[in-house]
Amino acid sequence: MTLQNSLYQEAVTQPYKEIDAGKKEQVEVMFDQIAPKYDFLNHFLSFGIDRLWRKRAVKKLKPFSPNKILDLATGTGDLAIAAIRLKPEKIIGIDISGRMLEKGRLKIKKKGLERIIELQTGDSEKIPFPEEEFDALMVAFGVRNFEDLNRGLNEMYRVLKPGGTFVILEFSSPSYFPIKQIYSFYFFKILPQIGKMVSKDSSAYSYLPESVDVFPDRENFLGLLEKTGFSCLSFESLSFGIAAIYTGIKENYNIVKKL
Ligand SMILES: C[S@@+](CC[C@H](N)C(=O)[O-])C[C@H]1O[C@@H](n2cnc3c(N)ncnc32)[C@H](O)[C@@H]1O
Repeated sequence: MTLQNSLYQEAVTQPYKEIDAGKKEQVEVMFDQIAPKYDFLNHFLSFGIDRLWRKRAVKKLKPFSPNKILDLATGTGDLAIAAIRLKPEKIIGIDISGRMLEKGRLKIKKKGLERIIELQTGDSEKIPFPEEEFDALMVAFGVRNFEDLNRGLNEMYRVLKPGGTFVILEFSSPSYFPIKQIYSFYFFKILPQIGKMVSKDSSAYSYLPESVDVFPDRENFLGLLEKTGFSCLSFESLSFGIAAIYTGIKENYNIVKKL
């Protein structure tokens, strides 16, 4: 375990502090609980910007024309659905929350996309696929919820084909006045209240800002990705630093050797 990751592991925050269960179990219970209201709250609390962020993330994969894509922590499948515009043969979404997946499957069926998008129960820290299976990987607002971030990143590396690409969309904390102050007030004071009222879960929307707060900052996260083995790493800051898109590739060492 790297120092950066060990510091992150110590700072790990869990949704239900009063319950004696691991983070993964708690995250699963939490998302099962909020699944009926998840999509509504996502769009409402972000003023619809989450849709633009996902579109932007998907666009990063366009130059690579991936055929087989894995969407990790797919939830209700919004990123997988957004990735349809890449015209892949197959998109597989995995998630640990059965209720989130149920919602996602309904949406996919309504849109007539069942032949291309398939949602399965699966843990991103123990991905149920063999090595080098996918041309591209995507994760939106998922890595922050992993119990063991290092293990999740290593698993991503394992299932990506050499030469394959990943895109990670995640919240980050803006660092400049006055966005930092406005964001903190909204994220820590307003959002948890609305989230609690609508979802009826007292912890889920307090866990959201807390989990963003303890997640590695951009430089440290890029460091973890590099340590995992990914290269050509880059990130783009979105909406004044409220979110960020990380991209990178798994180097094709055979081609590099030939060159
Ligand atoms: C904030 S939601 C994001 C869902 C979706 N990607 C989106 O863009 O709306 C986070 C999702 O991560 C899932 N999750 C957390 N840890 C996971 C893990 N180890 N493996 C698979 N899914 C996980 C949760 O169940 C939840 O559905």
